[in-house]
Formats: sequence, C-alpha cells, structure tokens
Amino acid sequence: MKLWKGRFTKEENSLANEFNASIGFDQRMWKQDITGSMAHAKMLGKQGIIPAEDSEKIIAALAEIMADIEAGKIEFSVEDEDIHMGIEKILTARIGDAGKRLHTARSRNDQVAVDFRLYQKDAITDIGECLNNLLTTIYKIAEENQDTVMPGFTHLQKAQPVLLAQHLLAYYNMFSRDLSRFGDCLARTDWMPLGCGALAGTTYNTDRQFLKEELGFAQVCPNSMDAVSDRDFAIEFLSCCSICAMHLSRFCEELIIWNSPDFGWVEMDDAFATGSSIMPQKKNPDMAELVRGKTGRVYGDLMAMLTVMKGLPLAYNKDMQEDKEPVFDAYDTLKASMTIFTEMLATTTFNKEKMALSTKNGFMNATDAADYLVSKGLPFRECHEIIGKMVLYCIQNQTAIEDLSLEELKQFSEIFEADVYEKVSVKACIEGKKSEGSTSWESVKKQLEDIKKAKNY
Ligand code: ARG
Repeated sequence: MKLWKGRFTKEENSLANEFNASIGFDQRMWKQDITGSMAHAKMLGKQGIIPAEDSEKIIAALAEIMADIEAGKIEFSVEDEDIHMGIEKILTARIGDAGKRLHTARSRNDQVAVDFRLYQKDAITDIGECLNNLLTTIYKIAEENQDTVMPGFTHLQKAQPVLLAQHLLAYYNMFSRDLSRFGDCLARTDWMPLGCGALAGTTYNTDRQFLKEELGFAQVCPNSMDAVSDRDFAIEFLSCCSICAMHLSRFCEELIIWNSPDFGWVEMDDAFATGSSIMPQKKNPDMAELVRGKTGRVYGDLMAMLTVMKGLPLAYNKDMQEDKEPVFDAYDTLKASMTIFTEMLATTTFNKEKMALSTKNGFMNATDAADYLVSKGLPFRECHEIIGKMVLYCIQNQTAIEDLSLEELKQFSEIFEADVYEKVSVKACIEGKKSEGSTSWESVKKQLEDIKKAKNY
C-alpha cells in the first residue's frame, strides 16, 4: 500500500508500479537523502514544528539506517518507488509515529531537488580531482619534453615545427578551462531548495537559512517554484562533462594517429593496449578509442536531459525523474575515461627521434623563409608567392628549401643571401617565434613556470 493510500480506492497496477519506480537508480543518492532528512528533522525540532524528542529520535534512527546501508544490510525493492520513500518507510518501521512526522513541511519535490544538488556537488569535486591528476600528468610530460621538436599540423598537414611541450600545454589549457567550468557549475549547483515544499512554499515556520548552513550550501533558492522545477544545474553539469569529454576525445585521436606504425611517434604501454584475435602483429590503442567512443554517450546524456526539460510547464513534472540517469551515466563515464586516460598517458613513451625526423620534410620552414624575405624589406604577399613557387620547384625536384644552393635560391629572388640557411633551420623556426604564448623555448619555459607557480607544483 502506498503512502498516498488515503485518496485511492484500488491497489496499483504492478506494471505501472515498476514503470513509475526510480529506486533502481536513485538509491545512489541514499547518503544525500539521509543527510537532507537529518538537517530537515533538526530544523523541524529547533523550530518547534515537531517535538524535540521526535526530532532526536529521527536523527538517531537515520544515522543507524545510514550505517546499515553502508554495511550492505538494506535492500530496496521496487515497492519502495524511490529512495525518499524507501528510507522513510524503514524509518517509520523502526520508530513509528516519530518517523511519520519527518515529512512535515516538506515534499518529495524539494527533497529530490536537494538530494540531487548534494549529489552533483560531490560529483563535481570528484571530477575536479580527476582533472587535477590529468593536469599534473600533462604538466610533467611537457616539462620533460621542452627539447622535443615535432611537426605542428593544420588540416592534419604538416604546418610549422613546434615543441612537444607546446602541443601538450595546449591540452593543459583546455583541461584547466574544464576545471574552471566545473567550478562555475558548482557555484550554481550550490543553491539550497529544501523547504520549498511541493511548489508554493509551506505554512510552517521553517528556517531555510538554517538548512542552508547545516547542509553546507552557498545560498537558498530564492523562489520556491524555481527551486523544485528547474534542472539547469544538471544540464550545465552535462555540458561541462560533454566539453571535457570532447577534449579527451581529441587528445585520444591524436595519440591514436601518433601510435599508428606509419607515424610511430608514441608507444602505449602494453598494459593499455590490446592485441588482435587474428592478426598476431597487432597492438591496438583500444583504451584511447574507447575514450573517444564514450564521448558520444556523454553527448547523448546532455541531449536527453535538454530534451526532457524543453516542454515542461512549471512546476514539478514526473518527466523530471528522468534527470538522474544521464547525470549518473555522464559522471561515471567521464570519471572512468579520465582515470584510464591519465594512466595511459603517464605510461606512454614518446619516440623523440622519430618526431624530430618528421620535422625534416614537409616544408614547415616555408613561412620562415617568407619571413626572411620580409625582413629584407619585401611585402609579405610577394614573399608568399615567391616561396610558393620555390616549394613547387622543391616538390618537382624532390628536395627541400634548406637544401637548395644559394644560386638556386637566387633564381626565385635576388634578395636571398647565405644567412638564409640559419633562418630556416628547425631550431631557428622554433626559436624565432617571438609572440607571447608561442612555441619558442623561452615562451614554453615561461608557460611552464607560470603553471608551476599557479598550481604550486
Ligand atoms: N522520484 C521522484 C523524482 O525523481 C521524486 C519526486 C516525486 N514527486 C512527485 N510529486 N511525484 O523526481
């Protein structure tokens, strides 16, 4: 029999029961539910809304229930419908009438909202730790590779030589923005909805500020209808997860390319690669591929949640019970992806010689050759054309800019002198980048130092 039996004359349909139940997944929030209920009971006692002794009984019993769940002594069933009713049922079975007083001045609508926000706050902290581990790992590898040169790409075509550290620090910046994005999301998750009742507030002399303090929220939700009916904080969390998963996925894609035998720039540790069931020679980067693939799941979670919310009139609607699984799934998926990725990256070896060798072809010094002519007074557009013709000549004659004789160079422009050779070496191309944030040794060193200072590494 349901808690709302008073209004009903029939037993519920068992299929409907099952369809309606969220206990299968929302039991993950048992700790948050009990924490919220303890604060609520304390507030009810303090305000004289329920007898002080009932409040104490409830809190003591909830602590025992918490310990029993932790010890795996309690199993919920579909009959409980959701975690809120499941715990209330156990409470009432244990302490009788006092337990029945817990739901005074509260609705499941504000209860679920507070549980969910508490859960998400913990999830954000947890993801933040994973991100910090990843950032530390990237930083370390960058620090060790300040002298490793490699081709930088655009359109996956060799573009200009860069330092591996510069490439890695690009990801460092992306993931540190992710970290700060989750931090922003935390600030908006940190609103306390409890005490708003079903939608309109309650008739009791409640103290929502007290609840806020007890539960460690930054502020109370200022409007009861907003408090119980919006899930923008969950959508924002899923957006943060999606963006972060996208960054991870791009990094994976690069490692997959770099790991392919034709590149051979990196080798993943055996522990993070798999073999083929038929081809004995294979060593496949499955972990990176899976992380890339799981990004689709996380995007799916975001889309699901956006779609659930898009047509809902205020205030609570049962559709909103669909909010939890996407958040749980995205959280689990991102956490697992980031954890495995961090370990995989930490154990990946970089073939520095092969990376450096790859900078020798592909005309990556063409821009620098043009800049050389600019330094001698020619307008850049003219230089671009001259070097373009020169590259075509090199392609046709299977040679490189730096391998042309001064005589050959002069055929393209009389301005060329012998000093051009030192300007178009890989070293000069990297060293010559003067702008702030560039790939030059000096700039990369400064970036690393700034990070070290900011993060206290
Ligand atoms: N299990 C419900 C949910 O997750 C709890 C809130 C139910 N409220 C209601 N009025 N049916 O959203």
